[in-house]
Amino acid sequence: MTKKLSTQPYKGTRDFYPQSMSQQNYLFDTMRMVVEKYGYEEYNASILEETDLYRAKSGEEIVNEQTYSFTDRGGRDVTIRPEMTPTVARMIAAKRKELAFPLRWYSIPNLLRYERPQRGRLREHWQLNVDIFGVESQDAEIEIISIANSIMKLFGATSDDFVIKVNNRQSVDYILQTYLGLDTDRSHSVAKLIDRMHKIPRDDFEKSLSEFIGDDLDKLLSVLDAKSIAELPDDLQKLDSVTMINAFIQELESVGIDNCIYDPALMRGFDYYTGIVFEVFDTHPDNNRSLFGGGRYDDLVGIFGVEPVSAVGFGMGDVTIQDFLDVHELSPEYATATELKVCILDNSVKSFAREIANELREGDVSVVFETVQKKPAQHIKSAEKHAIPFILFIGEDEKQSGLFKLKDLENHEEIEVSREKIILELKNRL
Ligand code: HAM
Repeated sequence: MTKKLSTQPYKGTRDFYPQSMSQQNYLFDTMRMVVEKYGYEEYNASILEETDLYRAKSGEEIVNEQTYSFTDRGGRDVTIRPEMTPTVARMIAAKRKELAFPLRWYSIPNLLRYERPQRGRLREHWQLNVDIFGVESQDAEIEIISIANSIMKLFGATSDDFVIKVNNRQSVDYILQTYLGLDTDRSHSVAKLIDRMHKIPRDDFEKSLSEFIGDDLDKLLSVLDAKSIAELPDDLQKLDSVTMINAFIQELESVGIDNCIYDPALMRGFDYYTGIVFEVFDTHPDNNRSLFGGGRYDDLVGIFGVEPVSAVGFGMGDVTIQDFLDVHELSPEYATATELKVCILDNSVKSFAREIANELREGDVSVVFETVQKKPAQHIKSAEKHAIPFILFIGEDEKQSGLFKLKDLENHEEIEVSREKIILELKNRL
């Protein structure tokens, strides 16, 4: 017996039925509106890349454990993009000499990562990528975080609803390599461990840490547990890369972003970050988790053998943002683009009714013309299920009299209108 075909989507992916499609479009429209207001241009690329692209700088976890990789029929190692940053860096490098820097680019690609599906983590997600190339100063970080903040505000969030945690990869390197004296390999392993600090039990974390750093455990913990720069050990507070974070937080405050804090344990998984890294967290007790993040990566474009280009950006996923909107009750109600459903009461008026439907479409009304005959109550029920706000029944009486009964399904009203006035009445009410 053949196995029954499943109707479920592939594990960790979603089907977008019209309601969820509309919700996703709302997310993307809101993101687009903000980034375009800041002058960012859209780009895209293929979902397939040569696997080598990710081996260079994305980090082992992504490449060895999370990619969908295969060998194509021509023997090439191929990977479905798990993130967009290596792709955009490759695109910039390919036209390094032609492009007019600074560049402000955005994209909303779908990405695939082989992960254990759980709240906020799926195998396929869409991710707004916003990146600025060719700005060396901190103005780039200020702009990028301002965009992230503006998007959150346009979604209806207040600054109490989320917190922006920042750290600096340079201070992390200093703390691990100079302050603790770890060699590059051990410092890399410790950084990866710190990246998982809040995902594993504290005892396990400390045990694993001490395997790398032995007696220096307390020394490192006193850094990681610092809630502000003032809580850091004295000699670290004066570090350039630390005072720079302080100045950065103050500058954000001066542009009205006052929910930014220093977190010495913030690592961000990727190997390509070189300076400021940041991650936005939900403050709601039911969704106390990371929403999105990014940082500066000045060396990535250079790995393609061209002159390096400084870069700062972030990736904001649709899954985590949707969880945020749900828990804060910020999701808009489902609305369809269809404004009116025209139904016929008799087959004899079909062409007349079709003519009216077309006339309304020319008048910029979105119309469903329903030729399937049902009882009016059934048509109304179905229109309501599709969230169509108005319905118009056309029969012989309407054809003869030229007067129509327009039903407003939201307000449960019936309005009698002439053919010429249908559009006006609809537009006034919509
Ligand atoms: P990332 O932290 O790996 O960074 O992903 C950014 C965001 O994408 C996450 O915070 C989350 O919102 C979403 N995301 C990632 N993986 C998943 C998943 N499995 N399921 C659902 N959502 C997910 C990057 O990808 C960097 N390339 C971002 C970047 C752009 N940095 C600079 N420019």
